[in-house]
Amino acid sequence: KIVPVILCGGSGTRLWPRSRAHRPKPFIPLLGEQTLYEQALSRCSDRTVFAAPVIVVGADHMPFATEQAAKIAPDTRFIVEPMGRNTAPAIALAAHAIEPDDVMLVCPSDHHIEDTEAFIASAIAAAELASDDWLVSFGIEATAPETGYGYIHRGEQVGGGFAVHSFVEKPDLERAKAFLSDGGYAWNGGIFAFRAGKFLSELERHRPALAAAVADAFANARVDGENIYPDPDLFASVEGDSVDYAVMENTDRAAMVEASMGWSDIGNWDALAARRIPDDAGNVVVGDGEIVDGTGSMIDTDGPYVAVIGLDDVVVVVDGDSILVTSRSKVQRVGEIGKKKSN
Ligand code: GDD
Ligand code: MG
Repeated sequence: KIVPVILCGGSGTRLWPRSRAHRPKPFIPLLGEQTLYEQALSRCSDRTVFAAPVIVVGADHMPFATEQAAKIAPDTRFIVEPMGRNTAPAIALAAHAIEPDDVMLVCPSDHHIEDTEAFIASAIAAAELASDDWLVSFGIEATAPETGYGYIHRGEQVGGGFAVHSFVEKPDLERAKAFLSDGGYAWNGGIFAFRAGKFLSELERHRPALAAAVADAFANARVDGENIYPDPDLFASVEGDSVDYAVMENTDRAAMVEASMGWSDIGNWDALAARRIPDDAGNVVVGDGEIVDGTGSMIDTDGPYVAVIGLDDVVVVVDGDSILVTSRSKVQRVGEIGKKKSN
């Protein structure tokens, strides 16, 4: 069986004012009835394919993570981080908590995937490669020179996937454009399959200090029922690094499976708007509002009625005490406000 490992960290400041420090992005319903975190758990809820999930979550977010998991996956185990140290330490904690020969499927908690069947098929193909000691990424068809993603250079076919020539995390725009026009590159979807023991040995090889510090924090963890609380002082001394830089860029056992599953990283309001179904004029209205004489815009309000007249490509979000008005092309800059006003 495949052990789902769901990562919940980060704050989602680019989705302010809906996403805030006290109610961050994975835990709010952005697309559909379920939150993105609930969707991630639901995708892995077939217990004939997946074992009980392990959630690695920051202590601040534990109340949401436990409450929302209770409905979907009551068998969930939690590893509670005293502070965030990025994804390499988070995944290492999970790897210590499962059997070395078990395959872990690392899933972010802030993505949207339309086609669950396709996700499960890719997970099974990836797990097969992983049991052969490959470190497997989910490759997503690259459609734009995004600089916020990792790029995977596809090599020769192995099993149900491909070996990886090179993995480049967050290239600059020039390189991203070159990768896109080359055609031999896929985006890294941020979902990985590893044998737990293989992940730890690769981490030890490429980031020995980080690996040793996490092992120490885990060995001195407080265990409360099914939940694990790594030692806060020891974990504080772990260097922050992402799995992409620490392991995927360096390993010579990287592989990928092609995953065509309606993947979307809901990174900002534009990405979210693109996932919602527009009306005939190309606008999206969620909540009480109206767009008159304009196209390509979105209103998302949790209460007040909003009218937008004669404007194209704007996003208006109302949430409680705050209002965001931005052009769709500048949504990346919402994070600057979200960081300042995240409460
Ligand atoms: N538990 C825990 N602790 N989770 C964390 C931490 C942490 O310290 N930091 C990040 N996460 C979680 C996030 O909540 C998210 O679900 C996932 O790990 C990925 O982290 P991001 O910070 O969102 O990474 P990214 O978007 O910059 O880049 C990654 O994802 C891209 C696709 O969305 C990389 O893997 C890229 O290569 C990839 O293209
Ligand atoms: Mg992300």
